Amino acid sequence: MTTLQQDPLLTVMYSSTAVATFGEPELSALLAQARAANERNGLTGMLLFRDNRFFQTLEGTPDAVHEVMDRIRADDRHTDVHVLNQESIVERRFSDWTMGYVPLPAPREPLLPGVRNAFTDVQGSDDAVAALRAARELNLWFRVRANRTAGRRAAQAL
Ligand SMILES: Cc1cc2nc3c(=O)[nH]c(=O)nc-3n(C[C@H](O)[C@H](O)[C@H](O)COP(=O)(O)O)c2cc1C
Repeated sequence: MTTLQQDPLLTVMYSSTAVATFGEPELSALLAQARAANERNGLTGMLLFRDNRFFQTLEGTPDAVHEVMDRIRADDRHTDVHVLNQESIVERRFSDWTMGYVPLPAPREPLLPGVRNAFTDVQGSDDAVAALRAARELNLWFRVRANRTAGRRAAQAL
C-alpha cells in the first residue's frame, strides 16, 4: 500500500481595523507588497476591505502562516487583529491567488442570499460560532464572485 505524504497546510482567517483612512493608493500598495511577499513565501489567500475594516484569509505551510501573522500583527497600518479561525486543511482554497481582492458591493447590499451582511456580522460578533460561519461565508462569497466576474487572475487587480 502506498501512502501519499502531503505537506501539512494551515489556514488563518482574521479581521482587523485600519488605523488611518485607507484609500485606493494605500490598498493598492498593500496588495502589491503582500502579493510579492506571498509569492516568495508560498502563501495564498484573499483580502476584503469595507468601512475601514479588513478581512483576510491566508493559507500555506504552518511556519509560513505563523511568520506572516506575526508580521501582520506588528503592522501599524491596522489594529484590533482578531483571529476568527485557524485550521489544518488538505488542499488550498485560494491556490490561484497570491492575495486575491475583489471590491465589495455597497455597504447595505447583502453579500449572499439569506445572509444579512456577513462582513458586518464577522466584525461585530462576540459569538465564535457565528464569526466562524460568517468567515466561511466570506470565503465562499469571494470564490463565487471572483470566478463569476473577472476570471481568476484578473480578480487580483485592485
Ligand atoms: C491588512 C493587511 C494585510 C496584509 N497582508 C499581508 C500578506 O498577505 N502577506 C505579507 O507578506 N504581508 C502582508 N501585510 C504586510 C505585513 O504586515 C508587513 O508589512 C509585510 O509583510 C512586510 O514586513 P517586514 O517589513 O517586516 O518585512 C499585510 C498588512 C496589512 C495591514
